[in-house]
Amino acid sequence: MMRKILFWLAVLAAALMFVFLGWAFSQHGTIGLVTVNGTFQKLFIILGVLGLVLLGLALFEWRLQARKQKSTTNILSTAVRILTVLGIAIFVFGFFYVGIIPGPLEAGQTPQLLIESGSGINGVPNMAVTYRTPKPASDTLIWGSDASAVTLKETTPAREHIFSLTNLHPDIRYWYQINLGQKEYFNSLPAAGEPLHFAITSDAHFGSGDSQNNLTEEMLQQIANPANHFNLLFSMGDLVEHGFTDSQWQQALQAVSAVTENIPTKYAVGNHDTILGGLNRWETYCDPAGIPLQNGTQLYQRFDDGNVHFLVIDLEWSAEDFNSAQSAWLEQQLAGIPKDDWTIVIGHGFYYASGSIVDGWKWYDNKETTDKLTPIFEKYGVDMVFSGHDHQMELLQKSGVSYVIAGTFGGALDPQRTYTSPESVWYSSTNFGFADVTINGNTADLVFRAPDGSVINSFTIPKN
Ligand SMILES: [Fe+2]
Repeated sequence: MMRKILFWLAVLAAALMFVFLGWAFSQHGTIGLVTVNGTFQKLFIILGVLGLVLLGLALFEWRLQARKQKSTTNILSTAVRILTVLGIAIFVFGFFYVGIIPGPLEAGQTPQLLIESGSGINGVPNMAVTYRTPKPASDTLIWGSDASAVTLKETTPAREHIFSLTNLHPDIRYWYQINLGQKEYFNSLPAAGEPLHFAITSDAHFGSGDSQNNLTEEMLQQIANPANHFNLLFSMGDLVEHGFTDSQWQQALQAVSAVTENIPTKYAVGNHDTILGGLNRWETYCDPAGIPLQNGTQLYQRFDDGNVHFLVIDLEWSAEDFNSAQSAWLEQQLAGIPKDDWTIVIGHGFYYASGSIVDGWKWYDNKETTDKLTPIFEKYGVDMVFSGHDHQMELLQKSGVSYVIAGTFGGALDPQRTYTSPESVWYSSTNFGFADVTINGNTADLVFRAPDGSVINSFTIPKN
């Protein structure tokens, strides 16, 4: 009887290893993870091999025991028992730690002012105030300016709250107030032709043991400071180390709320945000499904402020998510933008870059992204393309397109490059920081800033 139970336990453990693998590969981003990250690639292969070995050994042991060959089965049995325990332990780890069954989403959350896709009727984008409450509630939001106010009431109790602020006028000081609580103030984006000032940040990696999130908080203070007049914030991915760990999201959202409550914000998705089931959390916290969509999807979309057009794209590990649907959407959007307007692409993964080889993958000039995307950028005269992923600052230029790697917003700095991209104009891997950009007429001022706000380097980028 015991023999039978142990045999079926071994079969169950092997099956659980395959269930874990199957689940992992059904998750968004896993193909990119194993393509780029040699460590995960080896881990998944080892897991698959262990599952097969366990199954094979258990069957072999069963046959030997049936023939009563005791001396051989003792060693075999020990191996099968060890692998059985390991298989079950891996599954339990996956179940509870990685979140095959997702843990609860964050109970409470500070409101964020997110930029909606498309544009409003006055040439500036609509905004959405989003937050989550610990329990379902029907909330009320009042918003307006000195001139007028609008009351928005929810009719159905929910934990996720989304209030869309539409028909905004350019460069007006507005306020919003939830359930008659404290008034929060924000400025709508400037009118066409007026200077537009934004911060581009990437790779804060909250939750990683080697990230310096005290510096992230210092930079957020710089961006939040009204004296610095930032019109909007981009967070370009890898906000957290493990997208499946809710506590990391809570830590990150708490920190960024210093900015996102009052400065219009747009998130792009990064490979760490969506890792092993993290996509659900990224979408919930960074671009909830209920926000009206004028184009694209939750993961990639365009918004327009006057004659400046932003295309926020989904480029995580490499170009694995740049599928035909996203490519067609990108080309369709770019084709409709007037040549004299500014076109700016924002996404996590890089194209041209200096760097080095890590875990067997070249963290520099990425042939997959340069082959698939840069011909599109060149064809439509894209002006600037921002990315992160590489934890460094770099400006590269090719065929009129300026590529900017915005610096790390707290994640550990990359090692000094061993490869220099032929397109590189300037490179630094010794500074944390972010990119500060002002579009003004036919030029863009690009400033790489350190955590204390000081200038590391600056460039004037002409319109392409
Ligand atoms: Fe990163």
